[in-house]
Amino acid sequence: MSIEFVEDLKRQWMAMIDSIDDPLVIIDSDYNILRQNMAYVREAANAKLLSVRDFRGKKCYHVFAAGAVPCAHCKVREALLSSQNVQWECNALFKNREFQIRAHRMISGSEQEPNLVVVHYRDLTEQKMMQERLAQSDKLAALGKLAGGVAHEINSPLAGILAFSQMALKEMDDTNPHRSDLKEIEEAARKCKSIVENLLGFARQGRTSDIGEFNIFDIVHSTIRLAIPVIRKHQIELVVDLPDEPVKVVANPGKIGQVFLNLITNAIQSMQETGGTLTVDSKWDCSFVTVCVHDTGCGIAAENLKQIFDPFFTTKEVGEGTGLGLSISYSIVKQYGGEVRVQSSPGVGSSFSVVLPLAVHFEPLRVV
Ligand SMILES: Nc1ncnc2c1ncn2[C@@H]1O[C@H](COP(=O)(O)OP(=O)(O)OP(=O)(O)O)[C@@H](O)[C@H]1O
Ligand SMILES: [Mg+2]
Repeated sequence: MSIEFVEDLKRQWMAMIDSIDDPLVIIDSDYNILRQNMAYVREAANAKLLSVRDFRGKKCYHVFAAGAVPCAHCKVREALLSSQNVQWECNALFKNREFQIRAHRMISGSEQEPNLVVVHYRDLTEQKMMQERLAQSDKLAALGKLAGGVAHEINSPLAGILAFSQMALKEMDDTNPHRSDLKEIEEAARKCKSIVENLLGFARQGRTSDIGEFNIFDIVHSTIRLAIPVIRKHQIELVVDLPDEPVKVVANPGKIGQVFLNLITNAIQSMQETGGTLTVDSKWDCSFVTVCVHDTGCGIAAENLKQIFDPFFTTKEVGEGTGLGLSISYSIVKQYGGEVRVQSSPGVGSSFSVVLPLAVHFEPLRVV
């Protein structure tokens, strides 16, 4: 075998390994890096863990996890003792990213490096998010049916309570000692009615009536106008960065307005004690338009992030929030082939993005 042939072979193998999108690394039993592919270099460089490209001799936990000691979750040592591959999942390497890690014991054939391990990292973040979104839409569909049934049952007796309390109030003069009690009953019945109406609206999301093609930015602008008095009242700075040219979507414009009103109301509520900046901006490509509502408010705790789209999940005081705003918004956007995404850091703020297909790409959801 000529040297040229061996060199060629080596180059080909390296090119093949570098073309793999998942990070791959070969380490020895002391976690020293012997070789890595380009994806590994990119990940480490993106995370600003290391700027140099040659990792040889550096410890993998330093490069990939910025640690001073081996990661607590690491099963590399287990892989060295095992005749089989060892696999585990971990979300501690990079913020908000989930990896599946596989460690394979490698027979090196060399006396100097007898115990080597190939570690393969697969980014599961997107896949996990998709699974969560699917589970979320299944859950919402089931809850929508249930909530619709309950709301319907409650609606009639509630209408009776409201009508009779209003009739009794009309017949009562102002000095009657029971008047204020009756007023309380009327007020409470009104609140229940608005919750029931929201629930019925939530259950009806499956229908695609009254839909049309419209410029999404017109709806966003008119929703912002509605919110301006409250924005001013709380001394919140408003930044609107939307283009003049129209971007059209197909949906029920009133419902899309309701989505933005829910998001803007939440953003305002997150800043009402502290003040801050509410920013509305957008981006689009040839398939989707994304409108983002950013705030610099209290943010959402990591343990709450998974629940904010659940009906009735609220962290607000009794009487301040019903916890339906986001679940209704989510199911509206879903109905028109889009999705709602969130990014939030406690104490820094939140960004909610509404992604909708452009009118030319819209396919109405089939209701079964
Ligand atoms: N922009 C935001 N900043 C901080 N927390 C938020 C934000 N948006 C939503 N949340 C959190 O998500 C929860 C659910 O929001 P959602 O809009 O569904 O209900 P709500 O605002 O509590 O009540 P409702 O909208 O029915 O009046 C909120 O109670 C809050 O904890
Ligand atoms: Mg809300």
